[in-house]
Amino acid sequence: MSTRKRIGVLISGRGSNMSSLIEACIIPEYPAEITIVISNDPSAPGLDIAAQSGITTRSIDHKQYPSREAFEADLDAALKEAGVDLICNAGFMRLLTNGFVEGWRDRQLNIHPSLLPAFKGLHTHERAIEAGVRISGCTVHYVRTQMDAGPIIAQAAVPVLPDDSADDLAARVLEAEHKLYPLALEMVASGKATVEGERVVFNEKPKAHGAYIAPWFDVN
Ligand code: GRF
Repeated sequence: MSTRKRIGVLISGRGSNMSSLIEACIIPEYPAEITIVISNDPSAPGLDIAAQSGITTRSIDHKQYPSREAFEADLDAALKEAGVDLICNAGFMRLLTNGFVEGWRDRQLNIHPSLLPAFKGLHTHERAIEAGVRISGCTVHYVRTQMDAGPIIAQAAVPVLPDDSADDLAARVLEAEHKLYPLALEMVASGKATVEGERVVFNEKPKAHGAYIAPWFDVN
């Protein structure tokens, strides 16, 4: 019997991080499989990409609901119906209420394109360049009610180059995101990474301890 964790991926747009997870799950030894992809935006290009990979997709359009709670009730039901063990937010652009977040506590991951806790929220790359930081990157973390907060599972660092535009930096960080999310999910799905006192601890030595610096040296 398969012991792979069943993953529900939440998207709102192009779904390139979702694609990196789909690719990782093709490997038979990978400890997770994607059972459903759900978008709050019915026109999200990622829905077609998932469907082409043979994955069940749903669109649950938040605009059709009178409240966040009503939207989240259907989202929750769809995830449970699909037998989801873990949720991966991948460019999912809705803030979730405390009720939903607590219902999936320590079972919901998010990827954010900065080295948290720096540059939470939107326009991260513009703000990183504006602040003059020399290194930026991305973070995979457990979801908490506060936006872009929660125990950090893994981070990857990339350089900010002197002539970078926000688009240049976004592209460099995105490449790192596509490597980092599958690694972080592997740590969680295999049970190697768990939350203790709002920090992620490793119960068993993982392949790397959660810090990566492009071009992918494991910092152990
Ligand atoms: C990524 O940069 C992710 O970190 C952020 O939104 C973007 C989504 O891109 N939360 P994609 O839909 O995965 O291509």
